[in-house]
Amino acid sequence: MKYNMVTEEILNKLIEIVGSKNVLTDKEKIETYSHDETPKEQYACMPEVVVIPKTAEEIAEIVKIANKELIPITPRGAGSGLSGGAIPVFGGIVISLEKMNKILEIDYSNMMMVLEPGVITNDINEVIAEKGLFYAGYPMSVETCFIGGNVAENSGGGRAVKYGVTNRYIMGLEVVTPEGDIVQLGGKLVKDVTGYDLKQLIIGSEGTLGIVTKVIIKLIPLPTAKVDLLVLFKDVKSAIKMVPKIMTEEKIIPTSVEFMDKLSVQASCQFLNEHLPYQKSGAMLLIEIDGNREDLVNDDSETIGELCLANGAIEVYVADNCTTQERIWSVRRNIAEAFMVVSPHQSLEDIVVPISAIPDLMPELDRISKKYNIQIPCYGHAGDGNLHATLVKNPESTMEEWYDIEIKALKELYQATKKLGGTLSGEHGIGYKRKDFIGIVSSPVEIDLMRRIKKAFDPNNIMNPGKIFDVK
Ligand code: LAC
Ligand code: ZN
Repeated sequence: MKYNMVTEEILNKLIEIVGSKNVLTDKEKIETYSHDETPKEQYACMPEVVVIPKTAEEIAEIVKIANKELIPITPRGAGSGLSGGAIPVFGGIVISLEKMNKILEIDYSNMMMVLEPGVITNDINEVIAEKGLFYAGYPMSVETCFIGGNVAENSGGGRAVKYGVTNRYIMGLEVVTPEGDIVQLGGKLVKDVTGYDLKQLIIGSEGTLGIVTKVIIKLIPLPTAKVDLLVLFKDVKSAIKMVPKIMTEEKIIPTSVEFMDKLSVQASCQFLNEHLPYQKSGAMLLIEIDGNREDLVNDDSETIGELCLANGAIEVYVADNCTTQERIWSVRRNIAEAFMVVSPHQSLEDIVVPISAIPDLMPELDRISKKYNIQIPCYGHAGDGNLHATLVKNPESTMEEWYDIEIKALKELYQATKKLGGTLSGEHGIGYKRKDFIGIVSSPVEIDLMRRIKKAFDPNNIMNPGKIFDVK
């Protein structure tokens, strides 16, 4: 792909649009924008310039220039992504949405909210909880990620078993197209079948089809009762075997069924200086049940606890107050970050299989781990079949050996996942990191359709190029 560089003249135009303090070119300042949460030494690429607009109109003007001059644009939210989606792989302009962070409207009569893309996801619930309302999106990076990034990635997280993922709650979007037009998609409508559902196409398109500048989300009543169970098992196999049973035997849909192996809990506890009884067990499940009747939530959690004990659980700890619940969830949320500190050379994966196939996935992880002599600690959202197997560099290998092993082991992992009816990403996206592997799970026909959609939106391929698949 042949792109042009950002010239002095273009730089001046950008300054005219957003003001000089919102145009960064200083190497030290723009370094932050060269990577996300994927390993820096492997994936980082420097942009030529970072632009920080405050309105959709400013973005539209910038995009028009880039489209005319053939300069790549990389939209960026909080940079908490795990697939390299916000990395400017061809340099060019990074458009950071960090200053578009206002809550524009809380519409109580429609139970909706209108947000700019840079609102931190966690802040949504802090604002509406006192009104008894709730936004059910819950990526593990909830304390730092932006709602715009959640839309771009169609984020999942820890509550998907009961509440589904981001796209269930997005009612409307304002988008700047790759040709610099501003378009409104959807709105405050519960039903809408007017033409193709372009809004859903934008959700999860990883910033390749446009830049989201406004988001209308649906709110639901805040559940008033909640119980978390921390269930200890002697080993991974018995914990994982339990997952499909919880979902089917008692006909109870928990809010979350999270899985953590021993290494994961240990790393996160040490990172947070927290104490969960990981010495006693080989793996744990964190099961949450919520609802609006305390007695029913208690009954359901007792039923699930008993089912676990009848199926080989060593112990069930019940957390029924906010403090303990937050302590346990914090350990769960921080596993990825803890592993990045303990083993910076790693590949954090995001495979997903039908939940009934989860027990068959674990022996595959064991097999690949032994074959390549690497550790593969594992945790994740077992209740929806989505696991974060993390391939970790063996300290004895050189970096060159590790990169070679990483590619081979990943291919085997994705092939095994596909055989079980699964795919290679449940919530982190393909981005830059997994682009070369998408052909393992998606057919040539499917990829070709996606390419043609991309071309219809972005004829010059300037919007977040180098992501998901190669545009021919
Ligand atoms: C998590 C992130 C890595 O589930 O998706 O912790
Ligand atoms: Zn996750």
